[in-house]
Amino acid sequence: MNVGIDLINFYIPKYYLNMNELAKLRGIDENKYSKGIGQNKMSIISPLEDIVTMAAEASYDIVKENKKYIDTILFATESSIDFSKAAGNYLHKILGLSPSVRILEFKQACYAATGALQLAADYVRSNPNKKVLVVSSDVAWYGFENAGESTQGAGAIAMLVSKDPKIAIVNKGEFVTDEISDFYRPSYQEVPTVDGKLSIKSYIKMLKLLDPQEKYIFTCFHMPFAKMADKANATLKYPISDEHLRIAKYFTSEVGNIYNGSLFLSLISVLTLSKIDLSNQSIGMFSYGSGAIGEFFSLKLSNQYEKYIDKEQFLRKLKDRIELTSEEYINFMKNYQIKETTHKLINYNKSLEVNRFIIDSIKSGQRTYKKIA
Ligand code: HMG
Repeated sequence: MNVGIDLINFYIPKYYLNMNELAKLRGIDENKYSKGIGQNKMSIISPLEDIVTMAAEASYDIVKENKKYIDTILFATESSIDFSKAAGNYLHKILGLSPSVRILEFKQACYAATGALQLAADYVRSNPNKKVLVVSSDVAWYGFENAGESTQGAGAIAMLVSKDPKIAIVNKGEFVTDEISDFYRPSYQEVPTVDGKLSIKSYIKMLKLLDPQEKYIFTCFHMPFAKMADKANATLKYPISDEHLRIAKYFTSEVGNIYNGSLFLSLISVLTLSKIDLSNQSIGMFSYGSGAIGEFFSLKLSNQYEKYIDKEQFLRKLKDRIELTSEEYINFMKNYQIKETTHKLINYNKSLEVNRFIIDSIKSGQRTYKKIA
């Protein structure tokens, strides 16, 4: 049976910081960010958003058409808003799904969305009439004035997993697990503890172990920053061409790290920007999550995938954004930190209602949400 991604969509916040602004703010040579880590912009979450609103934005259009078939939501995140209650409980309500839909939150750093996708595919193989919504939603927040600050971002991906998928068949992958202290955030910490050099070493080591013996026209990578894909591609026995690497990196270079969704943002970049028809072609996918797990798997694109990828709309999401000054960036991220650590919504401002879904209130640790468009 063919099982895989029937539909895919993504969301990135309306606000971004230009990396040259960050370089100026921190007194760093602009080339370090543009050339050294390959980033032009990073997405910044607004004070009225969280992982639930971002997940709702990414999922809404997909779910509208498929409500009666979805019986499971797997929500991958490492930016959780609660240690017990799953973010999917809120998402389930916003999306108006039936009480007979099961929801689960998945965690394994940036790998959880890949694990969720593979388990969703297995579930559909044994329940062929069901569809599973796999959602990833994360805010990559490292705090101010440290090495990780330039590799931040925020965003969500939604994928509907079904039999006879319209976009791509998901093939089973090869994976490797090890216990590594490269990046972790104990529950008492607001931001992760990161050993950047160790994390890059661990990523590359796992990719080397999983390096496929097959040549792919495109390989998509987990990209904490766009330049990571150059390092990854150079590791492969069969690297992709420079032009295809540029295409696989483009969306990340404009958005930054969105943790769990990063690999799939690279896929969206390829599906949107490829100059060649990829019908019936296989593409490689490398997922890495600190802590750590690596998985290499492949997708086989359908012969009609282009009909279900709204390239213009995808590019508009990158284009129609509002640039923040460095002062606004500091203000937004201070708001984020206060919201997520004290569970207080501060500085509610009507002018920030630029999204379809916003947080309406946070009271006693419980959130309510509002659809405004
Ligand atoms: P850093 O100390 O800011 O930068 O750390 P650096 O000194 O290593 O320089 C970075 C690159 O810029 C180097 O190139 C420099 O040569 C170059 P490379 O040697 O790598 O090819 N450079 C310049 N180039 C041009 N002009 C200049 C210039 N100056 C320097 N003037 C680091 C960078 C990415 C480590 C840091 O930002 C960090 O710790 N980020 C967070 C961790 C991370 O992203 N790790 C990646 C792998 S782990 C992973 O992917 C998992 C993750 O997503 C989490 C999860 O799984 O949940 C992070």
